Amino acid sequence: MKDRHPRRRWNLALIFLPLTCGVRLFGEVEALSREEVREYFSTPDPFDIEYPEDVEPDGAVVSLGKELFFDKLLSYNETQSCATCHNPDHGFSDGLRFSLGANGEALSRNTPHLYNLAWNVTYFWDGRSESLEAQALEPIRAEGEMNLPLDTLLERLRGETRYAALFKEAFGDSSVTLDRVGEAIASFERSIVVDDTPFDRYLRGDENAISAASKRGMALFVGKAACIKCHDGPNFTDNSYHNIGVTLTDGGRGSVVGDDTLTGAFKVPGLRNILYSSPYMHDGSLGTLEEVVRFYNQGGRHKEVANELIHPLKLTEDEIRDLVSFLGSLNQPYLVDRPDHRHSNSLVNSTHLK
Ligand code: HEC
Ligand code: HEC
Repeated sequence: MKDRHPRRRWNLALIFLPLTCGVRLFGEVEALSREEVREYFSTPDPFDIEYPEDVEPDGAVVSLGKELFFDKLLSYNETQSCATCHNPDHGFSDGLRFSLGANGEALSRNTPHLYNLAWNVTYFWDGRSESLEAQALEPIRAEGEMNLPLDTLLERLRGETRYAALFKEAFGDSSVTLDRVGEAIASFERSIVVDDTPFDRYLRGDENAISAASKRGMALFVGKAACIKCHDGPNFTDNSYHNIGVTLTDGGRGSVVGDDTLTGAFKVPGLRNILYSSPYMHDGSLGTLEEVVRFYNQGGRHKEVANELIHPLKLTEDEIRDLVSFLGSLNQPYLVDRPDHRHSNSLVNSTHLK
């Protein structure tokens, strides 16, 4: 693995400042140079999205997917849509440690955000799903989540005149199939893109887009705190799996692939818009980004199982604040106009329940 620790540059200002102001600057983190910033960081590129069949979906497919994503018809008792748990106003999560399924039981993992999944390669905390298309049908039929058998889903959608029109617009004819449902929802999800944060404006050359604290945090992210060992690439994930010592009770990736060395390992989550989707980690056990940084600073919670990259970081209080400030520069409010379902058949008559 290549060495990712930035070189320390003791420029003239740093040598003379301590003499003139009497401030002790030895050990203080220096901001990265422009070349280093360009070496470590970038903005996600739409050309790198691997669409199925290499074709970017038509706008009508994305609109249909959005309609489905927000539609409570997709849960058996018509109380939940995907957006109930993946609420765009809560960073595509819902602020709960564990979301509740349509029947009221708590799930066993925290609801992840859905930003920039277009560039991801596996889905769920343990990566058990390999495409957004396949993933989309899972929560619909899962008993603990939306609890709707997929044949009932098809019946319901076929009974809605508005869907006949939307499927026709999207696919050329009004036939409703599971493949089309998955394709439409996945296409909507791939359209959830965050690429114009203050941090991206800084990358493009606007020196004032982020604060001095965020710049120091950026240097810590690649240097002393070494977050970039896993949160690497334009979306701050290298799509690998690690046990970082969060819990002892969830097998994670190990249970999916039957490999003991991956017990308790989870997918490295992307960090764009991470401010909005608290609480954090697969078990939602950390409430704020500051708690997350303190978690890493102490070398994880269950040190005996954590990856060797997780060890006490010896960050000072100022450095903890700087790192949090950097994470705070990765955010861009993402607003979604919700489809209006007030006139859908489902709310006028509830014969769908049977
Ligand atoms: C009751 C809450 C709930 C509902 C409803 C729900 N989800 Fe989720 N979603 C979750 C949880 C919890 C996870 C993580 C589960 C895991 O990793 O084992 C998840 C994971 C995901 C992921 C994987 C994200 C990643 O980073 O890998 C996607 C994509 C997703 N959901 C999309 C959807 C779609 C589309 C719908 C509607 C068809 C939906 N979800 C409905 C709670 C929910
Ligand atoms: C060894 C790889 C690794 C390193 C190093 C690492 N992370 Fe993580 N990070 C992960 C994994 C894996 C998870 C999910 C773990 C879980 O839920 O059990 C995670 C989760 C997170 C989350 C929560 C995301 C969410 O959606 O809940 C944040 C924020 C985060 N890391 C920031 C950082 C910061 C800041 C650093 C540096 C101090 C860092 N990470 C270092 C692998 C790593």
